[in-house]
Amino acid sequence: MYNGGKIILGIVIFLALAAYPFFGDIGKANVTPEPNLDTPEIRKLEEKKCVEPEEFMKAEHMSLLNKWRDLAVRDETTVYVASDGDRYKISLQNTCMRCHSNKKEFCDKCHEYTGVKPYCWDCHLAPKEGK
Ligand code: HEC
Ligand code: HEC
Ligand code: HEC
Repeated sequence: MYNGGKIILGIVIFLALAAYPFFGDIGKANVTPEPNLDTPEIRKLEEKKCVEPEEFMKAEHMSLLNKWRDLAVRDETTVYVASDGDRYKISLQNTCMRCHSNKKEFCDKCHEYTGVKPYCWDCHLAPKEGK
């Protein structure tokens, strides 16, 4: 009555279809953004670290930038002391973008993916890049 072969074939096809979204992603660009960290400045770093720990930067870089702006513009503070005690000059262009000089491959890559369009570059100079 039951056709074992067909059922097994059906299960195999089902599993293949169910797995497709995973295998189908391999090799496709822009499925999840992979911000490029390969810049001349970052290559020179002995310890590959950002101003604050990576997880914090991923989630909170916009609030850090707001804080930097307030410190610079309102309090005229020019130096930021990071949580590990390292000191950074407060500057979007000369600090963040010196290391992340590949704005297109870094900032833009994530922002395009999430549909965020920071308006900062209306005034602040973006790094000069090819392409
Ligand atoms: C001294 C060089 C340097 C400076 C200055 C710097 N970064 Fe970074 N940044 C890095 C490195 C290296 C990483 C990768 C960190 C890691 O893997 O732990 C990183 C990671 C990040 C990430 C997380 C990316 C990810 O998904 O892994 C964001 C966002 C970021 N930086 C934004 C900024 C912003 C905004 C500023 C300025 C406030 C800044 N960075 C200043 C070197 C720098
Ligand atoms: C790992 C991905 C990622 C990287 C890399 C990244 N961003 Fe973002 N950025 C985001 C996301 C996601 C948001 C939106 C967060 C939200 O709305 O809560 C955002 C928001 C912002 C905002 C606030 C914009 C707004 O309209 O609210 C600024 C400013 C910003 N990013 C600057 C930068 C700069 C400068 C760089 C490069 C140095 C950078 N980001 C790199 C993911 C990233
Ligand atoms: C309408 C023009 C304008 C826009 C848009 C703008 N800024 Fe600024 N920003 C300025 C000016 C002017 C200063 C003060 C520069 C100085 O004191 O040298 C400044 C200072 C800053 C500073 C501290 C000093 C420095 O040189 O980096 C940070 C950080 C900053 N802005 C971040 C941002 C971010 C992040 C955005 C986008 C969310 C943004 N700004 C959008 C005009 C602008």
